Amino acid sequence: MRLLSVATAAAVVLACGTPPPTFHQDVRPILEGRCVNCHVSGGVGPFALDSYATAKAMGPALVDSTQKGRMPPWLATGNDTGGFLRDPSLTAEQKDVLAKWVAAGMPEGDAKKPGAALEPIAGGLERVDLTLQMPEPYTPRTLPDDYRCFVLRWPKETPTYVTGINGVPGNAKIVHHVALYLVDGEVARYPPQWDAEDAVPGYECFGGPFGNRPQQFPVKLLTAWLPGSQGQTFPRGGGVLIPPGSTVVLQMHYSSLEASPGADQTAMQFSLADTVSRRLAYQPFLKFDWIAGQMEIPANSTDVVHEHRADPRPNFGLLGSSLDTTRGFNLEAVMFHMHTKGRRGELWLHKADKTRQKVLEIPRWDFHWQQEYQLAQPVRFSPGDELRLRCVFENTGTKASNWGENSDEEMCVANILSSE
Ligand code: HEC
Repeated sequence: MRLLSVATAAAVVLACGTPPPTFHQDVRPILEGRCVNCHVSGGVGPFALDSYATAKAMGPALVDSTQKGRMPPWLATGNDTGGFLRDPSLTAEQKDVLAKWVAAGMPEGDAKKPGAALEPIAGGLERVDLTLQMPEPYTPRTLPDDYRCFVLRWPKETPTYVTGINGVPGNAKIVHHVALYLVDGEVARYPPQWDAEDAVPGYECFGGPFGNRPQQFPVKLLTAWLPGSQGQTFPRGGGVLIPPGSTVVLQMHYSSLEASPGADQTAMQFSLADTVSRRLAYQPFLKFDWIAGQMEIPANSTDVVHEHRADPRPNFGLLGSSLDTTRGFNLEAVMFHMHTKGRRGELWLHKADKTRQKVLEIPRWDFHWQQEYQLAQPVRFSPGDELRLRCVFENTGTKASNWGENSDEEMCVANILSSE
């Protein structure tokens, strides 16, 4: 009898394998390390995930969103160049823990013995040297997505490098993401004029700092910021030069999942330096024929590919680059840009010696989660090499689409944070 029960117990262990994951020991560290920065009461995530009860209520959705790669929001998959800095995506094992926990009926485990915390995602600014706030509060008027540009006058009277950036949302529930553009030189007066056109703070802008006006001058991206992050420094001690007299345009994306969104007055914090070890600038790589109307995406079409393979440096020069790239340049980070018909995107380096490296791949594009992907290792572009940019679109509408700033028009750009 005794022997039998030992055998039965062994059979049970064999059949079940290891005991199922529990909330406090296995699931909580994952949620606290990768989700709760947004999914907390008052945060941008639409529900909290900071307790057993809140996590249990969302169980199957947690599995679906992580298995399909929608959460945490990080669109890039691996590249051939050593990965990315501050990559928050879950490992296969972590996704598996969530799936097994839900399959086992979401056991709570022992609250007094929580599992070890995950390695935190590095981030945060070393110093805050300057804070610029939206001049007035704004309450989103277009639901659920409102894209609004606000003009910040750059106050420094000498050339200054931005080395890091952080956002302080005025209303964390609705600030979905922020893109920052640098408008310098003669054209710095345009955005303030557009802001002054009506009494409402800021001006409407979907694809960039122009709003629905034709693109009037080269766009200079500065960076992007996502809520939930503690802010980011530019990689490897680099900085972006801001000339005196510049205008920084904040493109706010407000997402109001609530019925009545409140007012927001976001501020941006900057780390600054007078000199840097690497001068950085975002340079757009795209095909000029596209801007001239040759990027058609027919009505009712899927898998429409627009691709461009070239040495990007003539592009950079025409678009007002401040870097000397005659002997090549380093790719330090990439920000992809398409609108809502974009489905997939890739950027490859084709070396003169016929080898190729994937720099960035976005297998499921999501316009709502555009962000900067900093390369863990800089990638050297040498004369003789080429870059290949590939965008795949789907148009479920009854009207053909082409290049343009509006929400029913499209773009395909790899903005490359480069150093000399
Ligand atoms: C940067 C902020 C942020 C982080 C980090 C984040 N979320 Fe989200 N999450 C959101 C927002 C905002 C939404 C609302 C939908 C949207 O805007 O995409 C959302 C929606 C969801 C949804 C419902 C919609 C869907 O796609 O299934 C689930 C489930 C979810 N999140 C789970 C998670 C889990 C699990 C994690 C961590 C592994 C996580 N989220 C990390 C911001 C975040």
